[in-house]
Amino acid sequence: MAKIMPLISRKRISARVSELVKEISHDFPKHIFCIFVLTGAVIFFSDLLRELKKKNIEIRFSAVKLSSYKGKKSSGKVTMALDADDVKGKDILIVEDIIDTGITLEFLRKHLLKKGARTVRICTLLDKKERRKVAIEADYVGFSVPDKFVVGYGLDYNGRYRDLDHVGYIQ
Ligand code: IMP
Ligand code: MG
Repeated sequence: MAKIMPLISRKRISARVSELVKEISHDFPKHIFCIFVLTGAVIFFSDLLRELKKKNIEIRFSAVKLSSYKGKKSSGKVTMALDADDVKGKDILIVEDIIDTGITLEFLRKHLLKKGARTVRICTLLDKKERRKVAIEADYVGFSVPDKFVVGYGLDYNGRYRDLDHVGYIQ
């Protein structure tokens, strides 16, 4: 069995979620249309949602299911198994677990704009900057992480470890 080394504690994640909500609610004071990426972003998104609700913001949301990974390797080709609800004319906030090469988010951003979204902003829990292959930056970033395979708080390795309450890396 793989050994998971702790990287970001549950406490640090909660504190960072509150800070991100301050930034996001400043830019989206009244309503937000969120698109979260299944499956990895589901826990991060629900924590964000609950914090945003405390600011009296109306939140609509829809999910997309994208994948490009097999095990620890990115295939570089993104497939979409579930598309978002109508985004025409909307200002979108994408909520994602991690940006690695950037290929997934670049694909999604272009896809949403093609479907008529007015603007697209990105919030990611984790950012693995050194691995970037396409020039894409998130507007809101929880934590920068080193070039390690991270799991927990929604992120998996072959379907496991999503249920950890913190983020760790596989040694
Ligand atoms: P990208 O297209 O290379 O940016 O990859 C983004 C997607 O790959 C993320 O949405 C994750 O689902 C997955 N991914 C990338 N790095 C990791 C990791 O370290 N752990 C778990 N999933 C990862
Ligand atoms: Mg993902």
